[in-house]
Amino acid sequence: PIILSQTHFTHQDSLTYPFEERGLQFGDGIYEVIRVYGGEYYSLNEHIERLFRSAEAIKLKLPFSKKDISDLLQNLLNRNSMKSDGIVYLQATRGSAPRNHTFPSATEANVYAYIRDMPRNTDNLANGVSAITQRDTRWENCYIKSLNLLPNVLAKQTAHENNSYEAILHREGIVTECSSSNIYLIKNGNIYTHPATKRILHGCVRMHVEQFAKDLQIPFIEEAFSTADIEEADELFLSSTTSEITPVTEVDGKTIANGKPGHITRKLQEAYEQDAA
Ligand code: PDD
Repeated sequence: PIILSQTHFTHQDSLTYPFEERGLQFGDGIYEVIRVYGGEYYSLNEHIERLFRSAEAIKLKLPFSKKDISDLLQNLLNRNSMKSDGIVYLQATRGSAPRNHTFPSATEANVYAYIRDMPRNTDNLANGVSAITQRDTRWENCYIKSLNLLPNVLAKQTAHENNSYEAILHREGIVTECSSSNIYLIKNGNIYTHPATKRILHGCVRMHVEQFAKDLQIPFIEEAFSTADIEEADELFLSSTTSEITPVTEVDGKTIANGKPGHITRKLQEAYEQDAA
């Protein structure tokens, strides 16, 4: 496989990372996960916009313009003759320098991006997944797509150990998002989700869900719901680049409504399929 390193293309095996690298030592960097369907990007521009917002938030200067990175990422697909469903993972760190918390003065950002095959999880999309609730122990700037993912990793691992797909995170009972996805509750025909504040990642799929809801004339209400509300939900679903729009049919061992994906979730999934096709 050919990867993108800085602004050059190279073979994946020839990329080495210095051990005094700020991404490794401090998690001092940002990333994006971008969906590829049939060899074409979905929502590439939204991901590039967010990458630049994250970079600005951590005072990281990226070594390319939005147009340059868009062209480079397109080139990455072409060079790998990518024709299937997959993802591109891109990360940018504050570079390598002798370990010191303050920013190094003369280093350039380290950037790389690579492709991975990733088929759509049709089983989860069709049948839904289970989740568990957990405290959101993260920092206050979750809108930054930062490499510091330890709380997310621990939450997802706990979910996995409880035979669940996701961890629904809450702060004092108020649901923010999941360990690697956004979450929505449907009650009496309305979609509720945490407002796009600094407490959640502003998901690219979330932006699409808002648009699909508008198109379908389903009220999209940016109002947080609580863990107690989940028990009363008509439907629950989550969204992310890798999970798309996935129904959540069980939380903490209790079924949501009749335990089957709901009809509004289905409509949103159909809208997604059409948009991504
Ligand atoms: N995760 N919230 C969190 C904490 C996330 O990590 C993600 C994405 C999302 C959804 O964002 P988007 O719709 O732009 O994918 C919400 C990626 C896929 C990951 O870390 O693998």
